[in-house]
Amino acid sequence: MTTMRVGIYERAWMWAAGVLIVLFLAMLGYAAVAQGLRPPSHIETIDPRAVFDDPRFANPGVTAGPDGRVIVTSLAMTFAFQPAEIRVPANRPVSFGLTSSDVQHGFQIVGTNANTMVIPGYVSEFTTVFKRAGEYLIVCNEYCGVGHHLMSSKLIVEAAP
Ligand code: CUA
Repeated sequence: MTTMRVGIYERAWMWAAGVLIVLFLAMLGYAAVAQGLRPPSHIETIDPRAVFDDPRFANPGVTAGPDGRVIVTSLAMTFAFQPAEIRVPANRPVSFGLTSSDVQHGFQIVGTNANTMVIPGYVSEFTTVFKRAGEYLIVCNEYCGVGHHLMSSKLIVEAAP
């Protein structure tokens, strides 16, 4: 029988790499459990099986908030967004609230920096201002199944009258 000989330097590097892996996992575990770290926009939760009965998403579309801000609620599902068309004014803060009724989707407004993941069980939120009036394409940028490439909707930014 032959025994494998491992050089002292190789042995040291193997141990160093092993210790680092354990250290990183411990830090990750500590941040997730003890500090409750999670993606910043995913603080509000929702039961993904009851999305259609949830009052927050009962009427997806555009509404006015109490402070005059524009609120857009949109639902992502395989393989469409609800509503299929969103109309918002230019140069006003627009707050988006999004959730998924099934798997993970993306919500990217092409030509802007508006882009978020839509994860079942969470409400993704972001606020932005559209400076240019026009028509924008909204696409799903997370692979979600065979109809992923068909998943899109439209945003129309209207210039102030
Ligand atoms: Cu939804 Cu890709």
